[in-house]
Amino acid sequence: MTASVPAAPAFGETLPIEASPEMLRLLARRRSASAMTLTAPGPDAGQLADLLRLGARVPDHGKLSPWRFVILQGEAKAAFAARITALAASQANPVKATAALRKLTSPPLAIVVISRFTAGEIPEWEQRMSAAAVCMQLLLAAPAMGYGANWITDWYSYDPRALEILGVAEGEQVAGFLYVGTAAEAPQERVRPDVAAITTVWRP
Ligand SMILES: Cc1cc2nc3c(=O)[nH]c(=O)nc-3n(C[C@H](O)[C@H](O)[C@H](O)COP(=O)(O)O)c2cc1C
Repeated sequence: MTASVPAAPAFGETLPIEASPEMLRLLARRRSASAMTLTAPGPDAGQLADLLRLGARVPDHGKLSPWRFVILQGEAKAAFAARITALAASQANPVKATAALRKLTSPPLAIVVISRFTAGEIPEWEQRMSAAAVCMQLLLAAPAMGYGANWITDWYSYDPRALEILGVAEGEQVAGFLYVGTAAEAPQERVRPDVAAITTVWRP
C-alpha cells in the first residue's frame, strides 16, 4: 500500500513544528529490507519524483546541494548490471563480488546518491555528510510510501571502472545505492546498540 505525499511548501511558507505519532512509529520500528527481497512493483514515475523531492529535503550547509541522483531502472538498469557483472571476475574475491550483485539485480529501482564537493568555505566533511543525510532521508521516505529500501555501497561504489560506467566524475563519490521495491519478506529486527554505553554527559 502506498501513501500520497503532500505538496512541497511554497518558499517562505511558515512550517510549524507538529508532533507526529506516525513518524515516531516509523522511527521506532523501521528496518531496512534485504535488497534481495525487493521486487516489483517499485515506485512509479510520480512516486519516484516524490521520493527524490523528499530525499533532497536535508540539511545542507551553504545550500550547495552537494549531491545528485542517478536513477537505475528497467532495461537500463539491466544493462548497467551486465556491465558491472563483467567487472566482478577481476575483483579480489570474484565469487563474493558476483554474489553481491544479486542486491543490484533484484530490486526494480536503484537511486544512486552521488556526493559532490565544491571547494570553498564549507568543509568537505560537511558536504559528504549531507549526502549521507539524503541517503537516510530516502531510507525513511521509502517505507513511509509503503516500499522496502536498503542502503548499499558494495565494491562497485569504489571500483574505478564501475564508477566510469556510472558516470561518476572527479571529486564525486558514491554515497550509496538506495535500492527500493516491494519487500517480498518483512524484515526482522536486528541487534541494536546499547545507547547508554555510547553516551556520556559532558561535565566541566
Ligand atoms: C554507507 C553504508 C553502506 C552500506 N553498504 C552495505 C553493503 O555494501 N552491503 C551490505 O550488506 N550492507 C551495507 N550497509 C548496511 C545495510 O544498509 C544494512 O541493511 C543496514 O545497516 C540495516 O540497518 P537498518 O535496518 O537499521 O536500516 C551499508 C550501510 C551504510 C550506512
